[in-house]
Amino acid sequence: MNGVVLISGGGSNLQSIIDSAGRINLSIQCVVSNRPNVYGLKRAAKANIPSCVLDHNLFESRGDFDQALMSMIDDHHPDIVILAGFMRILTDEFINKYQGRLLNIHPSLLPKYPGLNTHQQAIDANDTSHGASVHFVTKTLDGGPVIAQKEVKINPEESAETLAAKVLKQEHVLYPEVIHWYTQGRLKLLNDTTATLDEQVI
Ligand code: GRF
Repeated sequence: MNGVVLISGGGSNLQSIIDSAGRINLSIQCVVSNRPNVYGLKRAAKANIPSCVLDHNLFESRGDFDQALMSMIDDHHPDIVILAGFMRILTDEFINKYQGRLLNIHPSLLPKYPGLNTHQQAIDANDTSHGASVHFVTKTLDGGPVIAQKEVKINPEESAETLAAKVLKQEHVLYPEVIHWYTQGRLKLLNDTTATLDEQVI
């Protein structure tokens, strides 16, 4: 399967996908970053994967940016579009176009803590566990059907930084695994609210 990966930063999730691409049926055609000079672009270069920057600051509107992004993505005819630390809210038009082949990883046990600062929120709420979720992207922000999660324990002395590092380590296991299921054709989005694995509702 052909994939396009969208990033905004360090790209450690991108790296975990690159590292697993050989053993799963995934060919990363292109990495797109909305921010210039991020380390994720270096990771793509090291792996000989074409990359490009589409700086959202250079566009008048969210809609204009998404139009350019869609045209860049479509050049590669992807079977899967992977959001890997891509920190942009996408327009409905974008989501409609790729829904069913658009995945995201989010650093919380969704539906808890959509949005930003998830680690601090979990600590502030005195939660004893936290984690990461991979979900199909639908029009509700971080609200599409969850496919799989990994959980970590929150220690009494935990900081947002130590917790983020623990969660990130689990993300690197979780995302390639879910992408593997997708490339095997086992994962489907039935409608805005239902995902299936091997035809069983998740
Ligand atoms: C990850 O925690 C991901 O879940 C979130 O942003 C972070 C990106 O990290 N959406 P990286 O760029 O993959 O290292």
